Amino acid sequence: MGWNSWHSFANVVNSRIIQQQAKAMATNGMKEAGYEYVVIDEGWWLGERDAAGNIIVDPKQWPAIKPGQRDGDMATIADYIHSLGLKAGIYTDAGRDGCSMYPDSGPKYMNTGSEGHYEQDFLQFSKWGFDYVKVDWCGGAKENRSGALQYAQVAPAIQRAEKITGRPLFFSICEWGSQNPWFWAPGVGDIESTVWRTGGDIIPPVVETLHDPEHDKRVITLRNVLDSFDAGIHPEAQHTGYYNDLDMMVMGMRGMTDGMDRIHMGLWAISSAPLMVGSDLTRLSQSTLSLLKNKEAIAIHNDPYGLQPIKVSEPSPGVQVWAKPMVVGGRRAVAILNRTDNSAQVKIDWSRLGLDGTPKSLRDVWNGRDVATADATFSVPAHDLALLVVDGEDKRPAEYVANRSDMTGIKATSGPTFARLEYANASGHVAVVRVKSTSGLSTSLALPSTTGSDSGTVGLILPHGTADLSFEGAAFEAPGVAIRKLLVYFW
Ligand code: GLA
Repeated sequence: MGWNSWHSFANVVNSRIIQQQAKAMATNGMKEAGYEYVVIDEGWWLGERDAAGNIIVDPKQWPAIKPGQRDGDMATIADYIHSLGLKAGIYTDAGRDGCSMYPDSGPKYMNTGSEGHYEQDFLQFSKWGFDYVKVDWCGGAKENRSGALQYAQVAPAIQRAEKITGRPLFFSICEWGSQNPWFWAPGVGDIESTVWRTGGDIIPPVVETLHDPEHDKRVITLRNVLDSFDAGIHPEAQHTGYYNDLDMMVMGMRGMTDGMDRIHMGLWAISSAPLMVGSDLTRLSQSTLSLLKNKEAIAIHNDPYGLQPIKVSEPSPGVQVWAKPMVVGGRRAVAILNRTDNSAQVKIDWSRLGLDGTPKSLRDVWNGRDVATADATFSVPAHDLALLVVDGEDKRPAEYVANRSDMTGIKATSGPTFARLEYANASGHVAVVRVKSTSGLSTSLALPSTTGSDSGTVGLILPHGTADLSFEGAAFEAPGVAIRKLLVYFW
């Protein structure tokens, strides 16, 4: 959760803008709500290096902030962000050139990528004090590189930097879904937590302060938001620690209505997608800000399983019910999405949510009110979304016990299916293991540590046709790491 400079400032970003935005986030209640990263996107660097290959930045764009600091030192801005109790993010490209070779609002700059300098650059970012790095793909695409191979080389450079400085550097992969990163990004380099973009940009940037005719005519439409959501549904790749990134949020930006804001917040929250806000935080309306800070929506987003929702029904074309299984037994977050131009009346069929009988309780998230489950018909206006939390009883799951690292006899799933995996991990750190199915499923799981002989669980969404599973990885060499059981909840 955090803020990113691109959508509202494009490559005219500078120290003053970052300070203003960071300050807004620290004082408008977003920080308390859980937003923590302030990410400087493209435009901070114009591609210059010294003879030793070190990045040189423009001292006017990044002047000293406090006495004793040097102009042109990125540590000053990271330090400022930290002084507000927030974390700092920066940006580069996996190729030689970065996206600055396609200028959006300024001159064109070449060589703004890190290829050939991975170890040097990621160490530099970490030494400056950055906690997060977004690694884009313009240069990689231009050189026709393989994303899987290139990002697998970035990962160890990040791990090396973390080891040297002792500071975690979160890895955000931005390859736009062009080479199906949901197949290779989870667990790349055995990293415990990653996000990867699943599609192109939700919109081109809308820089209000440029007063440039191109920017001034840009208006966000519902299509922009829905296309990013639709492109990002890869639930079999997403589990605790590994997340599909639906792109930065455009809440409250030009063209967004309150209903579209609810759709945007609701879909990103129920998808456990990064809540990385791209709007100008100094211009947010009260209604946008209160949606961004909605505690119950953020709790859905932060559910430890971090799963994406499953579309459980579409009672009429464009009116969809999406349900996200959560860590608490029998609990689902439910989004009723109305993509159409007319309001819709929706009655939810509880058994489609994998629930036995009528739920015990039903919560309307936007109003923060309980709803009587007996009268569970919802009216959703055109271009709007209702967000609910439902507590009931799970239907009885099928249970499979692991034989060392194999699980056989699993009845092939007939559609995306929720499962809980029970494991033990007394190694003291996150254990990254690979899981494969005879059906072709292949992904990585990051198993949080457990204590003593206790079991932990992670949630999975198994794709259609998943049958027998096998688990492997160096993590199993540690004593106390084992897979125990799989509970399959057919929908
Ligand atoms: C790509 C990314 C965007 C942004 C721009 C910067 O388009 O997808 O998120 O980082 O580059 O140029």
